[in-house]
Order: sequence, then structure tokens, then C-alpha cells
Amino acid sequence: MFDSDEPKISGKEYHIACGPGDVAHYVILPGDPDRTPKISSYWDAVTFKASHREYVTHTGKYKGKDISCTSTGIGGPSLSIAVEELFRIGARTFIRVGTTGAIQEQINVGDLIISSGAVRLDGASKAYVRQEYPAFADLEVTFALIEAAEGLGLPYHVGVTASTDSFYAGQGRPGFNGYDQSWMATLIPDLKKAGVLNFEMESATLFTLTRLYGGRAGAITAVIAQRETGQFKADAGLEGAIRVGNEAVRILSEWDALKERKKKKYVYPSLFSQV
Ligand code: URA
Repeated sequence: MFDSDEPKISGKEYHIACGPGDVAHYVILPGDPDRTPKISSYWDAVTFKASHREYVTHTGKYKGKDISCTSTGIGGPSLSIAVEELFRIGARTFIRVGTTGAIQEQINVGDLIISSGAVRLDGASKAYVRQEYPAFADLEVTFALIEAAEGLGLPYHVGVTASTDSFYAGQGRPGFNGYDQSWMATLIPDLKKAGVLNFEMESATLFTLTRLYGGRAGAITAVIAQRETGQFKADAGLEGAIRVGNEAVRILSEWDALKERKKKKYVYPSLFSQV
């Protein structure tokens, strides 16, 4: 039985099974529940908060900064539930850490991709706002991811991602028994010509929802598939994406403290050199 019209049970959000005080302002969002412990293994302190369906949450400290990690499951619908419920209990800054398939030749398996925006080939974001609304990452979160990748010396690319609801047909892979549709033959060539770097399944929903709700989000993914060459290597680059995600939270916490000290709403390059 729900506590009220809001789907909560004993004061906890229905799906993620967390309540107020359980999560930090900054939350890392992997898709895979098994990645929550991998991400929190880099922290100085970790508390297990909840595990319900695909949503596994840990909260703790990374280099002295408050941090949480909640897995979202695969795709926009399950991510939208996690983000809805995390907002309700106080989270505001989100970093997706996941895996991806690259469609541009210059991107190698094991490289990282920081998504500056996402083509909305998902369905979940359409439930929230009209199709013309842009899915774009927060500038500060994106810069924090770039700063972290540079600091760790990892190979990365920055650009537009296409987020789909389907790993197979939706990303131009033949379905069972070779099932296809005529548009599947032009999907990758058309996106490539438009400069799209990669396919994944969550960023468009994440960027749209966080923008609508006044939060911030960015995404870093590890390239496990190269669609031009047909290479596939499970979890290639994932460790690097995890390290970048954790470091980006530390960097954002420091930038947010700087903004508070300087009474500024945004960071901008000359703010760092002002005494
Ligand atoms: N995730 C995706 O959505 N697509 C890929 O090709 C690899 C990971």
C-alpha cells in the first residue's frame, strides 16, 4: 500500500527504496546494478542504502566530498523513474557513467565519450516535453568531466550522442533471424553525417529531465563497440569512465564551494584566477 498519492512506502520512494537523507546532492548513475559497488570501491567511506529491482544505491565520501551512486537499469523508462525519485529526496547533480557504441571511425574501443547533447531517439523524454526541446548536458558538469579525463590522462571525445530505446533494431543492428526495416540501412550513415559520435540508451532522458527540473547532468561512457569495424569488447574503458565520474564529482563540489564563496551562480574561466 502506498503512503499517499505519492508512491512511497514507509517514507521511502517506491522504486529506489531511498528516502530523504539517503542520498547526496551529487549522484553517479550507472545502468548496471553491479556497477554501483565498482564505483563506490573508489570512495573513502561507503554505506549501502538500498537494493530494489534494478536500483542499487550507495552513499559515502569520495576524497572528502559527499557522493551517492544509484543504478538506473537500461534505458530511458527506468532511468526516468530513478531520476524522478532522486529529485524528490534532494539529489540535483547527476553523472551518467556507462558504456556505448561508437559510430565514427576515429573513435577506438576503450576510448571515453563525454556527451555534450543527445539526439532524442528515446521514448521516455517524449512523455515529458515536446520533441523539439533540446537534450543538452550541463556546461559545468561537462567541463568537470573534461577536467577529470585530462587529469587522469585518459583518451576522450566530446560531442553529440544518440540515445535509443532499443539496443538492437533501434541502433541499426539486425533483429532475431535478420529482422530489419528499410530505415535501418540509413540510420548510422545519416547520424554519422550529422556528426553524431555514438549510441547509448539513457543520456537523452537524463538531460531532458534534469533540465526540466532545474538540476544538472552530464554523461561519460566507455566505448565497448565500434560499429564501423564491428569490434566489441565488454567493459573496455569502463574502469576509466568510473574514475572520471568520481573525479568529476570532486571537481564539481570544489567549483560549487568556490561559487558560494564568490557569491556567483556559475563558474567561468577568470573566476579561478580571482583572489
Ligand atoms: N550500449 C549501447 O547502447 N550500444 C552499444 O553498442 C554499446 C553499449
